[in-house]
Amino acid sequence: MKRIHAYLLIVALLIFSSQSVNVAQNGNGNGKGKVSASTTPVKINLPVKEGAVRFVIIGDTGTGSKKQHELADILLKARQAFPYDFVLLLGDNLYGGESPADYKSKFEDVYRPILDQKVKFYATLGNHDEPAQRFYQFFNMDGKEYYRFTKGNIAFYSLNSNYLDQKQLKWLEDELAKDTSEWKIAFHHHPPYSSGGKHGSDAALRKVVEPIFVKYGVNADFAGHDHFYERIKPQKGIYYFVSGAGGKLRSGDVKDNSPLTDKAFDRDMSFMLAEVVDNQLYFQVISRTGETVDAGVLANQRKKN
Ligand SMILES: [Fe+2]
Repeated sequence: MKRIHAYLLIVALLIFSSQSVNVAQNGNGNGKGKVSASTTPVKINLPVKEGAVRFVIIGDTGTGSKKQHELADILLKARQAFPYDFVLLLGDNLYGGESPADYKSKFEDVYRPILDQKVKFYATLGNHDEPAQRFYQFFNMDGKEYYRFTKGNIAFYSLNSNYLDQKQLKWLEDELAKDTSEWKIAFHHHPPYSSGGKHGSDAALRKVVEPIFVKYGVNADFAGHDHFYERIKPQKGIYYFVSGAGGKLRSGDVKDNSPLTDKAFDRDMSFMLAEVVDNQLYFQVISRTGETVDAGVLANQRKKN
């Protein structure tokens, strides 16, 4: 028996020492000695096709917490196999103070290795965000609270869902009316559809944007605010997602048996990867531990595939 105990002790020591090495090798490289949550390689289930548009969707990031760093480490790792060019930030980009030190600790320090790879972040304003963020160079808002930009065959509309007044709605409608892009994607902070217990669907927002989305053929919509991931069953032909667990988590907040849910994940923080190849939008959702929690492909509703 003693020999067996000694053997088990040696095995345990070996496992412990190899884990220590893995963790040490897996630091986030910011020199602060923080470690990532997982040593598991990030498996990519996306086409990674030449000429495709590849991007990230992440929301509610602005805490500067250790877990936000850990998720950012996974995001950085994912770029090795999935070279995305830009990131959609879904709002609540900075919680609490918004001094230069806050921009640094809650954004720049977290995403520095990704920024260094020339990845651009396109932000939208959340309920915790000061409008002055629109002038911050790394948010690429060009001084505007709502704006449009294009990448390949996609037009992106960043909306300010804090104040969706008549002026903004008219701008949205005018822009969409003349938009000939094959894909039209909206992103903003508050979710028109969500199964969150804390917040849930923003009915007032839905009432004003949904008729416009339907009329002008918006394909997909991304929002945060609720701190989990949810893929909503298509509503009036439009794909809706909640991706608000980039810096905070509201564990267990997705209502059970919600009729809205196609897939939900509220046990850890997460981000989405997306790739548009012609008429297909591929997506993969990855957690802080590198686990894939959802993946799939969506057809462009306005095209014959
Ligand atoms: Fe929020």
